[in-house]
Amino acid sequence: MPEIKFYKHDPLPMEMHKVKIVQKLNLLPVRDRLNKIKEAGFNTFLLHNGDIFMDMLTDSGVNAMSDEMQSAMLRADDAYAGSETFYRMRDKLEDIFGIKYLLPTHQGRACEHIIARHFVKPGNCIIMNYHFTTSKAHITTLGGRVEELVKDEGLIAKSTLPFKGNIDLDKVKACIEKEGAENIPYIRIEAGTNLIGGQPISYENMKAVTELVKPYGIVTVLDASLLQDNLYFIKTREESMKDKSIREITRMIADLFDVIYFSARKFGFCRGGGILVRDEKMFHDMEDYITLYEGFLTYGGMSVKEMEAMTIGFEETMDFDVISQGPQFIKHCVDVLDDYGVPMITPGGGLGAHINAKEVLSHIPSEEYPAGALTAALYLCGGIRGMERGTMSEERNPDGSERIASVEMVRLAFPRRVFTLSQTEYVIDRVKWLYDHRDLVGGLRFVHEPKTLRFFTGRLEPVSDWPEKLVEAYAAEFGEDQ
Ligand code: F0G
Repeated sequence: MPEIKFYKHDPLPMEMHKVKIVQKLNLLPVRDRLNKIKEAGFNTFLLHNGDIFMDMLTDSGVNAMSDEMQSAMLRADDAYAGSETFYRMRDKLEDIFGIKYLLPTHQGRACEHIIARHFVKPGNCIIMNYHFTTSKAHITTLGGRVEELVKDEGLIAKSTLPFKGNIDLDKVKACIEKEGAENIPYIRIEAGTNLIGGQPISYENMKAVTELVKPYGIVTVLDASLLQDNLYFIKTREESMKDKSIREITRMIADLFDVIYFSARKFGFCRGGGILVRDEKMFHDMEDYITLYEGFLTYGGMSVKEMEAMTIGFEETMDFDVISQGPQFIKHCVDVLDDYGVPMITPGGGLGAHINAKEVLSHIPSEEYPAGALTAALYLCGGIRGMERGTMSEERNPDGSERIASVEMVRLAFPRRVFTLSQTEYVIDRVKWLYDHRDLVGGLRFVHEPKTLRFFTGRLEPVSDWPEKLVEAYAAEFGEDQ
């Protein structure tokens, strides 16, 4: 949306929707929060939602639906096989992406599972701009390996680069030469990149890399889960694309890829997923996995109500007003905190605001999970639930040593169309307070450490009594009841 002009105020991000249904929030007193985070093993995934004030864990499956989406749910066609809802969804996706073969799945990682199962053989190398936790785990579980070839500058926390998710073409060339194209079944491009701060990739870079790999017979796969935000950034940051509509940009991107998959928990404001396959034979070869792991070919584990709603959600994603709100709120949050001197991942990207935990808690070694500690501390300081995106989110090396993450972040997700600006201001305020009291925060260690995706269900304890001291200082500042 064009920036709304103010008479007596600097421009502010603006909600281009109004609230029709609300959910009451609960702010527990700070000492109760201390008990809750202890019960949750200092892992914000294990908190109960009723004990959280601002749930910024994720933008996945918690986006607000529109009135149009809700009403569409009423006409969902219940059928095990041949649901009309499926055909409406398939036709809408074909209309947007220009690909007619759709495999429905229950969520994004199910797409990753099926793609990996179809393509990956032990020893294979999969090229990516950057990995996502579940996309990598499915590949390594099958004996494959991931090469992350994002440009080095994408990993620099503080930057003004518009497209930090861009892949390094020279590294891609070198990788193909080293591995041999026959050992690289596909390249996966994530638009935008989740784990380096929701940072986008440019159209030009996607075009260049797909043109580079195609002559080698390497299949091109787009992870479009975060495409909504990436579309906004292409339109607003890529000079040659600024006069194109979101629909035109989407089709230009789609034309570069053989396979496009998405988590509809993000792309489509709903819960579900899907794989679009350009080649008919490849589509039929993958079908068996859907019936085996997901459900029949016309629902793939999704509820038809959600499918009906996401079909409207896909169309809403083509509306620049709709997709602007998330990135603009994130930019506001990042810019204000950056001005306050809090180390942030800049520029603001999609998905959420990202705090550079390595720099905030430079006194905590990576082996004691600074991003995990800061995430737990932020719950104590305001009931704000973020997500650790750092070393805890990595898996250990085969020899058991820690794989230290290249970026150590706390992610404060902005579910789409959910939070207001005053709630955003509250979060900014508490992050600033915590930053000013960062010396009080100490490290964490695992007491229960799952082998795969340990960040989801692992339990930790503090290395000292730092949480008590932090709560003491917080209560002295804001009172016992806050
Ligand atoms: N790809 C990307 C880029 C994602 O961000 C996610 C999920 C997935 C795939 C998997 O999709 O959750 O539907 O199975 N990201 C969530 C998050 C979990 O919180 O960032 P899913």
